[in-house]
Amino acid sequence: MRELRYAIIGAGMMGREHIRNLLAIDNCKVVAICDSHEPSRVAASQLLPEAKLFVNYQDLLNAAELAIDVVVIATPNHLHSSILDDVLVSGVHVLVEKPLCLTVAECELAISQEQTTHCDGRVVWVGLEYRYMAPTARLLTEIQSGTCGDVKMISIREHRFPFLNKVDNWNRFSKNTGGTLVEKCCHFFDVMNLIAGSEAVRVYASGDQDVNHLDEIYDGQKSDILDNAFVIVDYKNGIRGMLDLSMFAEGSKNEQEICVVGSTAKIEALITDSLVRIGRRESGASGVEEIIVAQPEGVVAGFHAGASYLEHLAMQKAIRENSKSEVTLHDGLRSVAIGQAAHLSIELGRAVNINELLK
Ligand SMILES: NC(=O)c1ccc[n+]([C@@H]2O[C@H](COP(=O)([O-])OP(=O)(O)OC[C@H]3O[C@@H](n4cnc5c(N)ncnc54)[C@H](O)[C@@H]3O)[C@@H](O)[C@H]2O)c1
Repeated sequence: MRELRYAIIGAGMMGREHIRNLLAIDNCKVVAICDSHEPSRVAASQLLPEAKLFVNYQDLLNAAELAIDVVVIATPNHLHSSILDDVLVSGVHVLVEKPLCLTVAECELAISQEQTTHCDGRVVWVGLEYRYMAPTARLLTEIQSGTCGDVKMISIREHRFPFLNKVDNWNRFSKNTGGTLVEKCCHFFDVMNLIAGSEAVRVYASGDQDVNHLDEIYDGQKSDILDNAFVIVDYKNGIRGMLDLSMFAEGSKNEQEICVVGSTAKIEALITDSLVRIGRRESGASGVEEIIVAQPEGVVAGFHAGASYLEHLAMQKAIRENSKSEVTLHDGLRSVAIGQAAHLSIELGRAVNINELLK
């Protein structure tokens, strides 16, 4: 099997998580790292002393001698659009971290750039890896095999700790992140979209910045990131989705809980416990089945319960087998669209149709 040669653009927390995962996979090698911030470059080169370091990503893309096969973009969200544009021109395979871009309009530009620069066999992948978490993947399999009959309701709860500190505090401002419901919650909207198997048409939301980062001021600007929300999503096929987000809920046993109720059963995935519960209507409360879901063998757990590692394996399989991306730019757009619509709904105090955001 030919070795895949990787370059990482943005070597902060997530870029280094990618490096750790790639170090654990055979037949691939990270040959170049680019970061504009010296401490991030130093930290990444400690993991990979032999990789070539760059300050400017254009220099990395121009370094033909490196024979790069795959670029991973893990810079702050507001830079995804312009960097992806340039990486697509270079023709290499690319994994762009979530959210694909800040807005639907930017995602549409990325999709059009992918088409303009089309290369046969090139894989373009969005880092929406929560779908690969073992309990989520098991829940998706159960739904596909009809365990809960016709799906009607999907609720996802994320109760967790506040946003972490990032380089230059980029994540404290919605202008850099797209807003919390884009930045953080695109993961859950992607999972919701997969479960619903349909297009979101309408979004209603209520949310605010009530507790976190209220006293934080950077360069005279007050942090403006929402820390809690309820978001309701109507799908074209009649399925209803709901997201319940709290970022001041450290005292939660499960950081994420997914619950799907269909015509014949209810399925829950408790992510931190790695537990799936199946409750069939005919069996009632006493017949609820509890399944501990083990990670596939050899998975590097990393910071996302092994999902980043599995994402790389799936992407490498697509590259080697010349098959399609499992997480496309269109998936990226659909997940951003719900988040953007939710922010607009909060701002306008009304339901927002997804059509209002599309070109
Ligand atoms: N998939 C996931 O679950 C997940 C988790 C965390 C973060 N992320 C995403 O990963 C991306 C990075 O987040 P992070 O947590 O690593 O942030 P971070 O601040 O830790 O790292 C970002 C890095 O990008 C570098 N950078 C900024 N501008 C650059 C440029 N022009 N060229 C090269 N490097 C540049 C910064 O110096 C920094 O080192 C974001 O898009 C974020 O949403 C995804």
